[in-house]
Amino acid sequence: MDLWKQLIDKLETDSRLTKEEWITLIENRNEESAEYLFEKARMWQHRYYGNQIYTRGLIEFTNYCKNDCYYCGIRRSNRSAERYRLTEEQIMECCRSGYELGFRTFVLQGGEDGWFTQEKLERMVYAIKSGYPDCAITLSLGERTKESYRRLFEAGADRYLLRHETADEEHYKSLHPPELSAANRKRCLYDLKEIGYQTGTGFMVGSPGQGAEHLAEDMMFIRELEPHMVGIGPFVPHHDTPFANETGGTVELTLFMIGLLRVMLPKLLLPATTALGTIDKRGREKGILAGANVVMPNLSPTSVRRKYELYDNKICTGDEAAECRNCLSRRVESIGYRLCVSRGDYGT
Ligand code: SAM
Ligand code: FES
Repeated sequence: MDLWKQLIDKLETDSRLTKEEWITLIENRNEESAEYLFEKARMWQHRYYGNQIYTRGLIEFTNYCKNDCYYCGIRRSNRSAERYRLTEEQIMECCRSGYELGFRTFVLQGGEDGWFTQEKLERMVYAIKSGYPDCAITLSLGERTKESYRRLFEAGADRYLLRHETADEEHYKSLHPPELSAANRKRCLYDLKEIGYQTGTGFMVGSPGQGAEHLAEDMMFIRELEPHMVGIGPFVPHHDTPFANETGGTVELTLFMIGLLRVMLPKLLLPATTALGTIDKRGREKGILAGANVVMPNLSPTSVRRKYELYDNKICTGDEAAECRNCLSRRVESIGYRLCVSRGDYGT
């Protein structure tokens, strides 16, 4: 039997591979191994989630950020970024229109913006939860103290997304300024899980300097953490960052990693990301066929969409929320899936 077949079968039964095995599987991937993997991924996706694709309404509520990640278009050193913050009323309005469109999860994402103090954030979470008790609230606000995470959880937040970006400390250092570390990022993730959040991690595929050995470490870290969600998407260069001239990640490798994640942890919530849809017109459909089961259309007001520019050519920056929803609905139906109106909790 081919070695790759043995390794994929082992991943399916044991959910663990050694670092060398991961590297072999990733480095020697080809069309045949990818197809074999995606078939298994779809089998597991259907077993737990049928043909249902969960939707989350994304609200990008601030693009101010105190961090300076080298890849990110809204890093603090980017003087060309036009900064904005949504008011509490605007955020509530996004939720109201999102609720009407059938969204039952709101994802509040932003840069690390101290203007939104702990108290303001708690008030916002509490207000959304009181107005929409049947909805889940996901936060994606970066690194905070355990106490801060706990208080936000007590205010009503259910889930938290914080990609580890890369599990390898040296590689992490090459993508971030010295004050940030992979160790702290991982500490945050373990804190979030312990507090009781449905926790999401993830990484960029094809970030500068990334090799199969780093991806192997990412997969091993994710196996250890056992998160509920994993968001992965290709690295896409942004023209006003230090990585402007770096090569972006590929659709092919991103899809392969999605397939591996679905087979390793079959109940995972796995988004087909906007970044994947940006580098390939049918990227999100391909992501679903590789094992993804979540899409996250944008509910932010169209007036600010273009300003949350993490990378170049980001899609869906001109469309109203309703258009995005209808577009995604058509897209998933074209490949035999259905958008699902529910909170879309892990494993349900
Ligand atoms: N501040 C929060 C945080 O750090 O988790 C949330 C916002 S941050 C912009 C969300 C994610 O965008 C990051 O975790 C990163 O993986 C992704 N991202 C940033 N720049 C990117 C780029 N150039 N290409 C692809 N993804 C990017
Ligand atoms: Fe903070 Fe990108 S550097 S969100």
